[in-house]
Parts: sequence; C-alpha cells; structure tokens
Amino acid sequence: MASGDPGERHGGNLTAAAQRLGRPAAELLDASASLVPFAPPLALRWALVQAVFTPALRAYPDRGWRELRRVLARQHGLEPEEVLPGNGAAELFTWAARDATDCGLSLLPAPGFADYRRALGCWGGRWVDLPLPLHWGAAFPQPFPSLQQAAVLWICNPHNPTGQLWSRASLEPLLQRHALVVCDEAFLPLVPGGESQSLIPLVRSHPNLVVVRSLTKLLSVPGLRLGYALGAAARLRRWAGWRDPWPVNGLALAAAERLLADQVGHQRWCRRVQNWVARERPWLERGLGAWPQLTPMPSSTNFLLVRGSHSLLDLRLALERRHGILLRDCRSFPGLGEDWLRIGLQDRRGHRRLLAALEQELPGRQGDAARR
Ligand SMILES: Cc1ncc(COP(=O)(O)O)c(C=O)c1O
Repeated sequence: MASGDPGERHGGNLTAAAQRLGRPAAELLDASASLVPFAPPLALRWALVQAVFTPALRAYPDRGWRELRRVLARQHGLEPEEVLPGNGAAELFTWAARDATDCGLSLLPAPGFADYRRALGCWGGRWVDLPLPLHWGAAFPQPFPSLQQAAVLWICNPHNPTGQLWSRASLEPLLQRHALVVCDEAFLPLVPGGESQSLIPLVRSHPNLVVVRSLTKLLSVPGLRLGYALGAAARLRRWAGWRDPWPVNGLALAAAERLLADQVGHQRWCRRVQNWVARERPWLERGLGAWPQLTPMPSSTNFLLVRGSHSLLDLRLALERRHGILLRDCRSFPGLGEDWLRIGLQDRRGHRRLLAALEQELPGRQGDAARR
C-alpha cells in the first residue's frame, strides 16, 4: 500500500494507479472506490456543457446557494435554511468536526471511514473507537451496536466498509444520549429500500442531529465535488460563516440545480441504481463464494467486504499488476488487516472480468457458480 500520500489511503486513485502500473486509466477496472459504474446521468452532463456558456462559469457562484438549497429542501421536505451544499461530503465533515470538538469526545465506529478522523484532527478533536463486531448477519437493517457514552456519535449508514445498514429504530434513541450525532448517509440512496432508514425525518425535531449526504457515489461524479448537510438552520449558518467564500463551484451548482429540479427523473435514476445493486451484489457474492479462501460478508449496498482465510495482499497486487483490476486495500481501516479487501460493485462485464482474473490467480475454486 501506501505511501505517505493521503490519497493512497482512499480508493479511486485512478490517475496514480495508471501511472504506477504504466497502463492507460481507461484499461483499468476500478473496484477500489464504490461508485456507480455507469456514466453519470445524461441530463447532468448536458447541464454541465450548457453551464459553460452561462454566467455559471463567468460569474462568482451564489454565496447563498439559493436555488440548490431550494431543490434539495423540496426533495427532503425541509426548509432551504436547513440545507447546506458542500464541496463534497468531505468538506462538511470538517465543519461537523469543529462542532464535535467543541462538544467533547467523539465516538467513531471502527473499522470506519477515515475522513472523520482527518476532520477531527483539523481541530485537535478527541475521539475513541467504537469497535464493531466483525461478524454480522445477512438480514438488513440491523440494530446499531452502541452502548458507549461520549458527547458525539458519528454514524455511517450504510456503514463503510462493512456495508451494514443500521435501522432507524435503533438510531433514534441515540439522539437522546449524545450532544451531537453526525450521520453520514453518503451511500443510503444506493441501498434498495434504504431511504426508510434515513434519519432525515428526524432533523427538524432534533437540533443535535446533522445528516450528511453526497452526490459522488450516486451519480458517479467524484470530480464534481458535491454533497450537502441537513441540520438546524442556526448550526448551518454558523458553518457557512466559517468556510471560505465560494466552496461550491458554479458549474457544480448549475448542473445539480438542473438535475435535481426534475424530481421524477432523479427518482428514476435512484431506482435504476438500486436495481443494479439488487441484481449485481448477490451475483458477485455467489461468484466470490466459490473460493473457500474468500468469505464475502453480507452487505446492503454497492460494496462488499471480503475476508480471506489468509493475507490477500499478494492476490490484490497480482490482480492490479497482471489484470489492471483495483481493489481496496483495507489495512488503513482500524481493526482490519491484510486479510480483508473491499470490492466496489461493477456491471456484469466487470464482475466477469474480476472472476476470470481470480480464477487465474487463486487456485481451488469450487463448482461453476461463478459462471452463471
Ligand atoms: C462513507 C463516505 N462518506 C463520504 C464520502 C465522501 O464523499 P464526497 O465525495 O461527497 O466527499 C466517502 C468517500 O469515499 C465515503 O466513503
């Protein structure tokens, strides 16, 4: 793995991987980041092209993000002041972490997404890990396993990297126990039936709750940098006062406003994505399960955590070097080691390519389940 480059600890470093492997990025199958594998919505790409010929490029972006707030508020049944667009969810974690640091100790489920630690580190915030059991059932949603006390709780629903979907019923009582709850729902719109577990309906009644969403995964637009926070208007006003003046660029604003204004079209996109997850996850899970050395863990979403009976490091490197397939090294997740890999779902062609490469690199496949 990894150099000191922080990018190397996150999946999706396509440019760096292409350089390292001496292959064009287009030849690589990137299952290290968990993005929708089809092209972003045509309406979004078209809106971006059009935006280049409008003031979206040649004027400073609206510092009040009025139009995007309005469409997002309508989508989620909130007021525009209860929405704050961000330069990706990652930027918003920085501000959540500033509030968290003022509140006191943060509880971070481990293994978990590293960016919460990065954000807390910006402000000298303190945290303790909440170790998650590394065995779980296949029925979702599941109860969130928190019994520990701390001022702040960071939740990721569904959880990265395990793919577990937490039930709203188990999360709601935690809002009484913690001074601040930050709930990252970056992957929730990809989960079939996932929206029914969202905490967004509780935002209005719980000023100590912030829900953070990302358009990165859902629309496959990591380059656009668009996320948003939903929370109490006073909190979001405070965050807006801390950040630099134009954190969300005009092209991203224009494109997202256009796309999300069409609620029916957006719902159609979400259904397409959820149908893909519902179809491809069990197919890949069955295929991987044909190797006794690999245990794909149950997941509700578009990535699978795989446990190896021994180190999977050499296998990952062989897939990368010989087949141009990138999987997520899990050594940077606290509690996971080199016997774990995370695989972002691909389309069926990508999955066949992965299984064919595994067949060459890993002996002992049983049955022909992988071919179906
Ligand atoms: C759980 C989770 N939340 C948020 C993000 C970041 O999203 P964004 O691209 O909107 O900053 C990621 C990126 O990998 C993630 O895994």
